[in-house]
Amino acid sequence: MRDDFLWGAATSNVQAEGAYLEDGKGLNVYDTLVVTPEPGIEPQFCDTSVAVDHYHRWREDIDLMAQMGFKAYRFSVVWSRINPQGDDAPNEAGLAYYEAMVDYLNEKGIEPVVSLVHFDMPDHLMRTYNGFLNKQVVDLYAQHVRTVVERLRGKVRYWLTYNEINLCCHMPDLVAGVIKPEGMSDDELLVRLSCNVLLAHSRAVEVIKEVDPAAKVGGMCGSSPYYPLTCKPGDVAAAQFKNQMHNYLMFDVMTAGQLPAYFVNFAKQRGIGVDLTAGERATIASAAKRLDYLAFSYYQSSVTADFEELASTVEKQDAILRDNRRLSNPNLSANAWGWQIDAQGLRIFLNELWDRYHKPLFIVENGIGRDETPEALPDGSLHIEDDERIAYHAAHVAALKAAAEEDGVDVMGYLAWSPFDFLSSHKEIRKRYGFVYVNRTFAELRDLSRHPKKSFWWYQRVIATNGEDLSPEVDY
Ligand code: BG6
Repeated sequence: MRDDFLWGAATSNVQAEGAYLEDGKGLNVYDTLVVTPEPGIEPQFCDTSVAVDHYHRWREDIDLMAQMGFKAYRFSVVWSRINPQGDDAPNEAGLAYYEAMVDYLNEKGIEPVVSLVHFDMPDHLMRTYNGFLNKQVVDLYAQHVRTVVERLRGKVRYWLTYNEINLCCHMPDLVAGVIKPEGMSDDELLVRLSCNVLLAHSRAVEVIKEVDPAAKVGGMCGSSPYYPLTCKPGDVAAAQFKNQMHNYLMFDVMTAGQLPAYFVNFAKQRGIGVDLTAGERATIASAAKRLDYLAFSYYQSSVTADFEELASTVEKQDAILRDNRRLSNPNLSANAWGWQIDAQGLRIFLNELWDRYHKPLFIVENGIGRDETPEALPDGSLHIEDDERIAYHAAHVAALKAAAEEDGVDVMGYLAWSPFDFLSSHKEIRKRYGFVYVNRTFAELRDLSRHPKKSFWWYQRVIATNGEDLSPEVDY
């Protein structure tokens, strides 16, 4: 692996910080939304008042990352901590908080990688403006980006404009602060919101490059490559379309600077106008020339198939986009939440992205959620033998190494999800991803103490050997 490979992990701060009304912070969509449970899962939603108290324990958490040898750490500046209402003046306490975190990371030799929106739009912007469906919110977001980048200029080299931007229509409230207006079709929402978030991304790129020309900026998608269920041409066409709309649309626009033909025609076939002015199109085109890398999360691959009974392209495409058949790949195993584990899929996907875009690729989330019960040792520490997590990461790191070393893909880093346990996107503490166990459950807050799991020591060795030693044996 290249010597400057960015090994580390990533956090979504709204899911970890707690302190939801402290130091001037406003409520955001993650704080206020009633989350839809994951299919087939009995929900145990935690509230965000404490989460895992990262707001007060961030130094201890970063010390543990330094102990693992992290080269990079991705976190998000919570928008509603910086701009409590979204359309108000910046909150100095919020800015100072993240600046102290960045300074501490730099002191420890850990490269900060900062996400500018990650499920944390101020609730007021959702309730009053309907989030990114309203272009005024694009302006407010650009202002938020300017505030943050001006404050952290020269201290942060890597920025991510928008976490999982391609999921804006999959979870419009959490990802984009949008409640679908009555009478608007799903397809119209898709066209309008996709254009607006792409504009928001592009405005962010332009602002970051203006304020700090040395900064490196990436776009970020939540990726799940789709396989055809069979090699029937209809299934292959279904997978191609689903990949275009889910995995490639955002990256296509971010790199080419214009809407791809399949998307323009998707809108045209449905009589939906594309609402982008000439000036906005120019911003999108300009940002594409300045984008430095493409970042993505990867947890699983997925499967889709034709709807043979439907005749028209429009009907088939709409059915594929809103498919609730819950097809699964018979060749893969899954975790308890049904997320199918596919390390080879990561290698395939890296190759696809590299061939299509020729931009450095950054894996900024990869991990496995597990329900874990620790064993209490006599010295008071909590012990977690998470061999399944070690196997998961080992297989995915081996896949990215193969892509980089054998296939020639330019991979710049690997950030695991997550450095320590915190709430899932569905506000579950039961679904843990961390290398460090946090002592709380759904029912009890306990002492929130931190305890390295077996995988902590495994990942420490992986980083120390620059990915050479992936063997599962760990002295724990
Ligand atoms: C990504 C998000 O969707 O996946 C994270 O960027 C999220 O915020 C992660 O936590 C894992 O998903 P989940 O739903 O298991 O938390």
